[in-house]
Amino acid sequence: MMDVQRIRKDFPMLKAHPELVYFDNGATTLKPQCVIDAVNDFYTAHTSNVHRGDYAIASLNDRLYDGARGSFAKLLNCSSQEIIFTHNATASLNQIAWGLGHDFLKPGDVILTTEAEHASNLLPWFRMKEEYGVEVRYVPLDNQANLDLSEFAKALTPEVRAVAVAMVTNVLGSIQPIKEISRMAHAQGALVIVDGAQAVPHMKVDVKDLDIDFLAFSAHKMCGPSGVGILYGKKQLLDAMSPVFMGGDMNARFQKECTYELKKGPSKFEAGTPNIEGVIASAKACEYLMEIGLDEIHAYEKELRAYFLEQMQKLGNIEIYNPDNLYGPIDFNAKGVFSQDAAGYLASRNIAVRSGNHCAKILHEVIGTDSTIRASLYFYNTKEEVDRCVSACADISLENAIGIFF
Ligand SMILES: Cc1ncc(COP(=O)(O)O)c(C=O)c1O
Repeated sequence: MMDVQRIRKDFPMLKAHPELVYFDNGATTLKPQCVIDAVNDFYTAHTSNVHRGDYAIASLNDRLYDGARGSFAKLLNCSSQEIIFTHNATASLNQIAWGLGHDFLKPGDVILTTEAEHASNLLPWFRMKEEYGVEVRYVPLDNQANLDLSEFAKALTPEVRAVAVAMVTNVLGSIQPIKEISRMAHAQGALVIVDGAQAVPHMKVDVKDLDIDFLAFSAHKMCGPSGVGILYGKKQLLDAMSPVFMGGDMNARFQKECTYELKKGPSKFEAGTPNIEGVIASAKACEYLMEIGLDEIHAYEKELRAYFLEQMQKLGNIEIYNPDNLYGPIDFNAKGVFSQDAAGYLASRNIAVRSGNHCAKILHEVIGTDSTIRASLYFYNTKEEVDRCVSACADISLENAIGIFF
């Protein structure tokens, strides 16, 4: 059983703002002390570059930086050689899309995706359409953005070479059936690319069991620092893929005739000085989550979300867009109040949520509105915080929401 009150003591932000209800975890999460200490230690006790210095502090950082792959490999059940550090989920997805466009895809090949994707899992594919002539197609979803496997089977025509979907969608929290998607896609030779930005922080994601070809996510959404992304890829696919960035540390040699040889393994994709302290601290975040247990985190969040939903459904002034989903954020509007005004009112009651389209700008085709409020929870949130949020939501009205501006 998770001891939430004990866990909350690990987060200095919760102590610094005892009045704040932080329900914007889908955007980024708070950081535990062990992560903050790891960043601080790097700057105060062991600053150096990595893979370049021949002295003790540099070797320590080499060990910590490359050792961080091991923590993520354990989290995902893969080899350390299959973990690449990038700058965020967006950078990971761009590397995957560009690498596939450059090395694998040909004009007319189809990328199958959904209308519920974040911009980071659509725009890189739109660029592949522009640059390599691939076609982007969408699998139909239900009105809470759940993918139906019979629709998926119909959409999986022979031209589909890759399927790119979020395991958990960022607005409605729909959990897509990745294992089945992989089985069906692989049966006809298509690759499976999973945007794990809203999944990996909240549940066990076993890339072997799910048979995922590529997975992308960000450390900052799982208690780690900003500026670190993770790209998992099956080793044989990474070996065959070209890196987007060229430069220092990733090359084995080059000559003035413009010939060059790249390094093997993860280094090939990590040109230039990486976010060293961020990667070291991200491994701490990863270990912190594994220590609490991803299954425990998932179960706790599911129960808290169910309680939140039950309370919200009692409010006559609130319209909820994902009442049947069992997981993820609650996405809603106060009837007759523009979402940003309502979020401003909640802020005046110390409730932090996000409003707008949440970077999923074609999702309105599915839910029928392009501006909502997203309240996203994490394992350090409590029922008391939910009660405070629900009570503030009950009071949202046009007069209140506009009143805060005068
Ligand atoms: C589903 C999903 N994919 C990708 C991203 C992009 O993550 P980042 O901004 O860390 O690159 C987000 C961020 O909100 C997301 O929710």
